[in-house]
Amino acid sequence: MPARLERMFHCDPEVFRQNFNHLPHEVKHTLMTHPLFKLPALAELAQRVAARKNPHHSQGDIHVDQETAQANRKVDLHDWSKKNDISKLVEDIENGKTWIILKHIEREPGYREVFESCICDILDLTGSKIVEDIKWFEAILFITSPNRVTKYHIDRECSWLLQIQGNKDIHFFDRSDKDVLPDEELERYWMFNDSFSAIYRPQYESRAIVYQMRPGTGVHSPVNTPHWLQNDNNVSVSLSINFQFHESAWENLFKANYYLRRIGLTPMPPGRNRFADRIKSGTYTAVQGVRRKIKKIPNRPAAVARQDYDRIVKLLASR
Ligand SMILES: [Fe+2]
Repeated sequence: MPARLERMFHCDPEVFRQNFNHLPHEVKHTLMTHPLFKLPALAELAQRVAARKNPHHSQGDIHVDQETAQANRKVDLHDWSKKNDISKLVEDIENGKTWIILKHIEREPGYREVFESCICDILDLTGSKIVEDIKWFEAILFITSPNRVTKYHIDRECSWLLQIQGNKDIHFFDRSDKDVLPDEELERYWMFNDSFSAIYRPQYESRAIVYQMRPGTGVHSPVNTPHWLQNDNNVSVSLSINFQFHESAWENLFKANYYLRRIGLTPMPPGRNRFADRIKSGTYTAVQGVRRKIKKIPNRPAAVARQDYDRIVKLLASR
């Protein structure tokens, strides 16, 4: 049986029970003093992630977004070509206008143990039965230059963003507020996997739930909760602990509604009528199944993600 690590993630159980995957709420953690999250260690980590021979994502597990000083334009460096310079970019983060995303850092020694400890702390609060509904887990690290803004968007992950260094404000909106997030935007999101299908409406900014994140604090972001972020005048390091649900039934409802709307109908939003939802999702799933057979689309999660999932299930059982 593995040694029990000290608890790194904390949340009032009642606050967690009332809000989990429903509304954002604050959490606490102990990672702000951890040596693996200091900039020199993160520069090494970035180099390792950039050099991966078998990344989780076909375009690589590192994403760099810079604003050029000359034209104040964003340069998308998704196809990051200067992999040897990535550690320098991290070291110079204070002087740039850079946003670095390191994906699946739980694959790296040391970070894996931190991630597994946090996710087990979270699963203690959810109850272990939820693992049956989870497709895979992930730890993402964000390193951000002073004053950077992260644009308004929605995500498919159920996540906890833990602030480790620097301060930033995160503005959340209630995903059930249809003025803020109309169903058409959710349908486009699930149809095209486009995080920016959610459109920011400044007239509703007063409805935002704003958290001032400081080292040691964190926030829970339920699936599809709209949000945007503003860094303070300092370097920010944040860790996102997240997982994805087996969401095909839910996802297929939005996709089915997307097609119904295209032929001029006004489909009922998911969640209003369970029976109708089941029929609609089942029909869409059946049609998609036929299409998969014809096109031979692979429908299996990556083997590595599966192994990581199995490790977490075993760890959880041993606690
Ligand atoms: Fe996000």
